[in-house]
Amino acid sequence: MKKRITRRGFLKRSAVATAVATLPLGLIEMSWGKDNPQNFTFAYISDSHLTHIEGKKFVRNFDKGLKRAITECNFMSPKPDFVVFGGDLAQLGKREELEHGLDIMSGLRQPIKWVIGEHDYYLDLGNFWQKNISKTTYSFQHKGVHFVVLNSILTNSSWIKRWKSPEERMNNMARLDNPNGSPFMVGEEQIQWLKKDLARVSKDTPVVVMSHSPLYKIFKPWNFWTDDAEKVQAVLRPFKKVTVLHGHVHQILYNQIGNITFQAMMSTAWPWPYPVSYVQKPNQIPKITVFMNRADPFHERDATGWSVLNLENGRVTNHYKLWENQDRILKYNEELGYPVDSIYQDRSKRIPSQEHY
Ligand SMILES: [Fe+2]
Ligand SMILES: [Fe+2]
Repeated sequence: MKKRITRRGFLKRSAVATAVATLPLGLIEMSWGKDNPQNFTFAYISDSHLTHIEGKKFVRNFDKGLKRAITECNFMSPKPDFVVFGGDLAQLGKREELEHGLDIMSGLRQPIKWVIGEHDYYLDLGNFWQKNISKTTYSFQHKGVHFVVLNSILTNSSWIKRWKSPEERMNNMARLDNPNGSPFMVGEEQIQWLKKDLARVSKDTPVVVMSHSPLYKIFKPWNFWTDDAEKVQAVLRPFKKVTVLHGHVHQILYNQIGNITFQAMMSTAWPWPYPVSYVQKPNQIPKITVFMNRADPFHERDATGWSVLNLENGRVTNHYKLWENQDRILKYNEELGYPVDSIYQDRSKRIPSQEHY
């Protein structure tokens, strides 16, 4: 039924409309309320895998990747509001690797939001990280956007108890193609926490979730996977604008499931190949998944970089800062006496990673 507007009501509304129309812009913005998102920019660096080798100190090439991303972030204009580190700061979760990572990250001039990766977690089950770096589950509001950070790389306790030492546990979770690994999960406790956290957020507020592993299922044998992803997606479903940002896959990937947009971050250390090209089973990955367009994602120095993210009207636009490493690939290949394009023909002639150190 149509509501009848009285003359008095009409005049009242007109008066409000006129008052709003004549307010200075700043005051109008304030009158929209705190949930109205403002536009802003943040940066995302992920998967640095700083590696300590006994007697050799640190792998220089991986240090260089992280340092380069930090330098480029510091040169951003305008400055990002904050920088996210997306997990896998360390290679084997060693104290020296994490301390080294903190040292290098201290070069950033902007505040840092931390996400934990499995390489940071499985040696001491997140102890050092939580004492010295950050919580692993938290949320924060920024300019009308609700951000959530989850620890998506947990697994079941029976797998954790299976190993004789922390090192054995770490080594068995760290590999890519690993039959001894265990699927990642967010877990019931965090899902309950997420429900409570989001209960106070309006359904119109843009929500950005940051996890290390993708909160959808790409390829299980490589753990490009979160076992209870559907449960997390169900909690996010009522919100109008949801973006999930994740690391771990070391490649450019985009996906859309219902209201949720998923975007992957590149690594500063090395790219992983696509599961589909590696195992030749096209049905293993979700159909919509869009990959990076790159000549040789198998090459460890190709397809690395970081990201600048613009938040406009609550939607995330991801600008990949893909480093141009082609000249370095050709140079290394020439030095070793291979034809310049041989790495694209024959993977057995790829330059062993040790030669980059
Ligand atoms: Fe990683
Ligand atoms: Fe990872």
